[in-house]
Amino acid sequence: MEKSNIIKLNPSDLERQKTCQSEVLRHNLEFEKTTGLEKKAFIRTFGCQQNEADSEKIAGMCREMGYRISDTPEGADLIVVNTCAIREHAEKKALSVIGQYKHEKEKNRDMIIAVCGCMVSQKHRVDQIKKSYPYIDLVFGTASIHKFPELLWNKMTRNKRLFELDSETYEMAEGIPIERNHPFKAWVSIMYGCNNFCSYCIVPYVRGRERSREPEDILSEVRDLIGKGYREITFLGQNVNSYGRTDHLSCDFADLLECAAKLEGDFRLRFMTSHPKDASDKLIDVMARNPKICNQFHLPMQSGSDAILKAMNRHYDMERYMHIVNYIREKIPDCAISSDIIVGFPGETEADFESTLQALKKIRFDMLYAFIYSPRVGTPAASMENQVSDEVKGERFRRLLAVQNEISLELNEAMVGTEPLVLCEGPSPENKAVLSGRTEGNKIVFFEGSPALAGKVFPVHIERADPYALYGKAVL
Ligand code: 5AD
Ligand code: SF4
Repeated sequence: MEKSNIIKLNPSDLERQKTCQSEVLRHNLEFEKTTGLEKKAFIRTFGCQQNEADSEKIAGMCREMGYRISDTPEGADLIVVNTCAIREHAEKKALSVIGQYKHEKEKNRDMIIAVCGCMVSQKHRVDQIKKSYPYIDLVFGTASIHKFPELLWNKMTRNKRLFELDSETYEMAEGIPIERNHPFKAWVSIMYGCNNFCSYCIVPYVRGRERSREPEDILSEVRDLIGKGYREITFLGQNVNSYGRTDHLSCDFADLLECAAKLEGDFRLRFMTSHPKDASDKLIDVMARNPKICNQFHLPMQSGSDAILKAMNRHYDMERYMHIVNYIREKIPDCAISSDIIVGFPGETEADFESTLQALKKIRFDMLYAFIYSPRVGTPAASMENQVSDEVKGERFRRLLAVQNEISLELNEAMVGTEPLVLCEGPSPENKAVLSGRTEGNKIVFFEGSPALAGKVFPVHIERADPYALYGKAVL
């Protein structure tokens, strides 16, 4: 592949992290020897899959530093809170959980509490933590994750609060250890950051400019996962369709996906998220001819009104959006299509909202993630004058869900009697007595069977459906 201008982390910087990792490990082993107690770390993650993937790196580094990853904050020596900033609700939740850890620290004065992620990549939140959360020891932004060992070691040796905010140059670090949360499903970040500046969205401000990993680094991670028996691999990026563009890679997203889909092994591939302005026919052709790529497309529409899409700075209109939907359905007739919608964007009129409802009825998404617009400090939409009242937002949100629930129910009921292939994920977290799994279209299926079926792919005969899930019997 051709050369690129990716800013890779300097090898000496990575070496420094390794040295700090060893120092923390040595310190923790000594502690273990003198006290007979194991050092424990608890990681709490809020937000999207990108944050989940970042937390797996933090867990990987913790493991290398001699911490056992614990399921509870009780008795932990290190707590890391990986935060989200996408909506106000996510920030409130993180702040309230951080507040609870104050009591944990009162029980163990030596406990270190670190906060990282999108929320603390905003200056006003860092100022708030400096002022009102004196028991937080360490704060670092999304682009500083690879510096965690150094930050932790500095905190341990200097006993001073540390605030590491992201610089303008967003480097990418390869080779960070990863402790995966799941034994047969894996996230693979193919790029970081976002260049799109949708007018409502905080992501470009907290995750920086778009940068893509080298295709060879990604493919070797995928090969390694397949070798370890992973059955489902999801490529992650804020806008996977622009993969490689800013770094002038000779390989675009469709090429990368096809290279991965041609690898030997028993696995399936997914990806998220696609931006309609960049989703290409070429990508859909690649999906259509490669059976290892799941027939599932998450294509956030955000609104069905051209005027609102323009105000959102989305760079497509409904004609373009419909072209993609139609092309997917022409080339991959059984492809599940899901979407994100924001209701109550500033200036959204009843007619704009009606256009969104009409689009839902016309397209009939298999799944919809609906959100109430939440103003984010520093984004253009937050200072638009024509904000929609909470009352109207709430009412539109309920109407939107009612329309979608009816569609989801009809589409799910149409699957009764069919036998889709399901990747069994093991006992359902909500009800351990039943197993759960996902179809290729990412629909959740519940069925009875032995927990030993986890990680296996087999058909499930669908007997019943509701708007959110399918229920059936495994065909073994
Ligand atoms: N308010 C509400 N929803 C938002 N999203 C992004 N920013 C906001 C916001 N300020 C939604 C979009 C995006 C999804 C991940 O979150 O629909 O696709
Ligand atoms: Fe946010 Fe738009 Fe980037 Fe998605 S594409 S992360 S919605 S700015």
